[in-house]
Amino acid sequence: MTQTRFPKAEKKLLRGRILNFSAEPMDHTDTEAYAYIEDGALLIEDGKIAAMGSYADVVPEADGVEVVDHRPHLLLPGFIDTHMHFPQVQVIASWGDQLLDWLNNYTFPEETRFVSPEHSAEMAQRFYDQIIGHGTTSAVAYCSVHKTSAEAYFEEAARRDMRMIGGKVLMDRNAPDGLLDTPQSGYDDTKELIAKWHGKGRALYAITPRFAITSTPEQMERAGALVAEHPECYMQTHLSENHNEIAFTKELYPNAPDYLGVYENYGLLTDKALLGHSIHLEEREIEVLADTGAKPVFCPTSNLFLGSGLFDDGGLRGRGITNAIATDIGAGTSYSMLQTLNEGYKILQLQGQKLHPLRAFHWITRGNAVALGLEHQIGTLEAGTEADVVVLNANATEAMALRMERAETLSEELFILQMLGDDRAVDQVYVAGQAQKGAPRERTTPVAA
Ligand code: GUN
Ligand code: ZN
Repeated sequence: MTQTRFPKAEKKLLRGRILNFSAEPMDHTDTEAYAYIEDGALLIEDGKIAAMGSYADVVPEADGVEVVDHRPHLLLPGFIDTHMHFPQVQVIASWGDQLLDWLNNYTFPEETRFVSPEHSAEMAQRFYDQIIGHGTTSAVAYCSVHKTSAEAYFEEAARRDMRMIGGKVLMDRNAPDGLLDTPQSGYDDTKELIAKWHGKGRALYAITPRFAITSTPEQMERAGALVAEHPECYMQTHLSENHNEIAFTKELYPNAPDYLGVYENYGLLTDKALLGHSIHLEEREIEVLADTGAKPVFCPTSNLFLGSGLFDDGGLRGRGITNAIATDIGAGTSYSMLQTLNEGYKILQLQGQKLHPLRAFHWITRGNAVALGLEHQIGTLEAGTEADVVVLNANATEAMALRMERAETLSEELFILQMLGDDRAVDQVYVAGQAQKGAPRERTTPVAA
């Protein structure tokens, strides 16, 4: 098993202004839904949170323990990103195209490089450096079609002791040769990866048929078998992101009632299904989402970047559907969940919908954890949960500090972080209790010549 290079933290006490959610707040009056502790403390032991409370209440439990004083900054649960593509770290900011051309012209050629274990390993280190630097401590990612890329993704997560979800994509048509598996090889590779990684340390597996266009019906059938055989795993795919994509899908699957009907027919939809984008939905599809508990994933920066459309958060929520939120790197344009909220706020504004900053910060912490069924492990600072913590500084840049001079409430501070913040506002990040920023990072894998 991989050697852990970042050992679990010693016992330590973090002092700062704590914000933690126990339910989704609609706005600041929803005081039952969140705890804000002005002089708060988190006692961390063996990678878990042993106590959360006021400094005065927690400090007697921490006799002789190192205190890390983060005042006046905010302590929140580490951010959770529910949809991103690990092999697209060098695709971000590729000009000019909408979805299908962007895939063909930029993304597919780049993903072919992940056949190399050396390239995969190097990119994995840089991927995790990026997400951690932006305050994200857990993510759900697509790897490339190559088993090597998923190996690199999970190896590096294990080395950092991170709770990460992911899977190799299944794709056997409509892509370059170097990026195709077969129904049988995709099934076999996925079985081997599940056996090796799911539940090992903090890793969890997501069965990952890329989308209907890149899988034959035979492969979809095998994906359905994987979902049936592994109800403990997630399933992730893409849904109704772009009008040309939807039209092509309907050509390829003429017997399906609609786009979501393809996934439904192959048994892919459960409450562990994550459906990236879910923008242009038909009424029947919305009913199926509500009935199955499958989760749409809102990807604001990506949806604007590719000109895909406006996600109807309010409409879906009104039907009892739980929406997750994510960056969708590399069609997304920022690793920052703060910048993701910034663009998400604007997409909702364009539809006359509101995103209060308290609901926004709930969404990227506990909200995404709820969507993953992991709210008792991550996305919270409750005692007994995993010690993934982000430390936020709302005065990180001159523009933020200037605006902060006029801020009077916690909600205002959060909104400034949401609209103006990015990695510069992330002062420190703890993964399983271990401080990530400022520590020299050992490289264990030689960089490819
Ligand atoms: N649909 C299928 N693959 C992808 C991808 O890599 N990115 C986005 N945004 N949509 C997709
Ligand atoms: Zn995606």
